[in-house]
Amino acid sequence: MTSLPFDIQIRAAALADLDACAEIYKACQDEIFPGCPGAWTRDSFARATAGEEVLVAAASDDGGRSIVGFLSLWRADAFVHFLHVRADRRRRGVGRALLEAALATLPGSAELKCAIDNRDALAFYAHLGWVETERETGGSEPFVRLHYASRVAAASEARGYQASGD
Ligand SMILES: CC(C)(COP(=O)(O)OP(=O)(O)OC[C@H]1O[C@@H](n2cnc3c(N)ncnc32)[C@H](O)[C@@H]1OP(=O)(O)O)[C@@H](O)C(=O)NCCC(=O)NCCS
Repeated sequence: MTSLPFDIQIRAAALADLDACAEIYKACQDEIFPGCPGAWTRDSFARATAGEEVLVAAASDDGGRSIVGFLSLWRADAFVHFLHVRADRRRRGVGRALLEAALATLPGSAELKCAIDNRDALAFYAHLGWVETERETGGSEPFVRLHYASRVAAASEARGYQASGD
């Protein structure tokens, strides 16, 4: 388990955090989808996260509480939509901290989609116990669907498989 080398707080996003989140979103989306430069804007961030809960990771080690990452969650489907960490703060436990904070608020399993070419993110999710359930290669943005089962949800899913004889 990574220990965070800087003081960090995971909390619900405030209105004042949204510009910083949008900047991280723009940079990360450009990385993930290099073929669409400039497609990601403050407005597309607002549209894409409308109705979602946004958690931020705020660090206090650089002269103020700056946002170093965020996660957005569509709670009705337990669907993690975006998980983005600023490039200069990766591999220090921020992504894990955001994901664990979101999962702790969900009663059971969770889902997400990840671009097939995003190998770093797929390795990160596999390391944290997410498993591939579907691979969609037909569209313009091929993706992998991943599933996470909390210990309680995993036990009850296993009981379900036994009961159905699978
Ligand atoms: C994917 C991403 C969110 C990971 O965040 P992060 O803060 O760098 O990851 P963490 O430091 O919390 O890593 C948690 C664990 O995963 C491991 N891990 C992280 N990246 C990994 C990689 N590329 N390969 C293998 N393991 C990895 C870490 O070693 C760590 O292990 P530990 O806790 O057992 O020590 C971040 O790289 C990112 O924002 N990428 C760009 C945007 C993106 O692709 N988002 C996902 C879209 S689906």
